[in-house]
Amino acid sequence: MPGLVLVGAQWGDEGKGKITDYLAETADAVVRYQGGANAGHTVVVDGKEYKLHLIPSGILTGKTCIIGNGVVLDPAKFLEEIKYLKDLGVQTDKLYLSETAHVIMPYHQKLDELEEDKRGEFKIGTTKRGIGPAYIDKAARTGIRVIDLLNPEVFRSKLTRNLEQVNFLLEKIYEVEGFNFEEIYQEYSGYVTKLKPFIRNTPVLINESLDENQKVLFEGAQGTLLDVDHGTYPYVTSSHPTAGGACIGSGVGPTRIDGVIGVAKAYTSRVGDGPFPTELLDETGDWIREKGHEYGTTTGRPRRCGWLDGVVLRHSARVSGLTGLAITRLDTLTGLEKLKIAREYRIGNEVIGNIPNDPELLRQVRPVYEELPGWKEDISHLTQFSDLPREAQHYIQAIEDISGVKAPIVSIGRERFQTIIRWPIW
Ligand code: IMO
Ligand code: MG
Repeated sequence: MPGLVLVGAQWGDEGKGKITDYLAETADAVVRYQGGANAGHTVVVDGKEYKLHLIPSGILTGKTCIIGNGVVLDPAKFLEEIKYLKDLGVQTDKLYLSETAHVIMPYHQKLDELEEDKRGEFKIGTTKRGIGPAYIDKAARTGIRVIDLLNPEVFRSKLTRNLEQVNFLLEKIYEVEGFNFEEIYQEYSGYVTKLKPFIRNTPVLINESLDENQKVLFEGAQGTLLDVDHGTYPYVTSSHPTAGGACIGSGVGPTRIDGVIGVAKAYTSRVGDGPFPTELLDETGDWIREKGHEYGTTTGRPRRCGWLDGVVLRHSARVSGLTGLAITRLDTLTGLEKLKIAREYRIGNEVIGNIPNDPELLRQVRPVYEELPGWKEDISHLTQFSDLPREAQHYIQAIEDISGVKAPIVSIGRERFQTIIRWPIW
């Protein structure tokens, strides 16, 4: 099974970084295929904590790591992260960057902020990293790509045209100061020498690896419910975190993908605005937030917490064709008397098994819960599924039953070794 995709099965922050790091140990290459520095992945190895935003979480294993064409690249953040890793003794000599990835410009970040403010009560709660505006330029065919930075004339011409539009928007519509061409031109030209050694035609690289039967792990950022097509639109990000996004965002065909692992927390969290049917606005929600340290890696915002949502998992299984689940943070639930999993939703007298596409209906749904007994024993040191308390085993089995997907991976702590593998992944 050479091509394996890993996706977030909820609203992001599922623990993808940890599972990627674990699977990367047996992979040959890891590819990030969408999103940008809006992602925040914490990986713990031997008690040492690493926080990553742009570079694939596989970097800590020393494997080939690729930032694919589907990513929007903030060069300053990229170089900062390389320095951060080098300072921690992590090698980045097998890190490659797609020449066709789009570049985040200072005006993307500014527009992200201004647009959020303008939305008022309808704000999305973005990370303000310029992600949405950068993808807007990509779709509008005005975006600046990594390869454009390498050609001073092309870069000058594209930036000139873009700034004409952007500054018009900023000065006339938002009534704020526009950007200075020379400042941006000099700043970004200054990144070129540092970026050059990483730049490659990455679809060629990735396909060659697959041709040689190497194991390639495609690492999704964000989560299925944040997908611009399959998420809770408009409260989504502007890319495709779902499995299909792995093909577009790295330049491989769907025939090269052999499996899709959906990473899901044993409960649910969401950072940012938008519907969240199983949200707990009571002390249980607070308890989960504190026990699980549910504060954003990228923005530090407290995450909204709630029960596991089986309707969400079935949706993710459907739109990404999940072949397995990695359940994370099972240890966080230790100590709760009772646990709940949403099996369906109710709207008025009607029971539905899918997420309604109408945002108004989605706001009205009430989860129909299955209640399960909790466990009190510390599980964070266990290595076998059969060693878990009976209640914890039943909880995992209920997730499998409700989602229709088996769970070969169960994570019981932040460390690499705190991972129960029930059967081989690839
Ligand atoms: P990882 O990879 C959780 C959310 C933001 C906001 C929405 C749009 O760590 O799972 P954006 O800045 O992308 O335009 O914001 O998406 N969001 C995330 N939530 N985890 C993430 O990444 C996220 N990246 C973006 O909070 O609601
Ligand atoms: Mg995160």
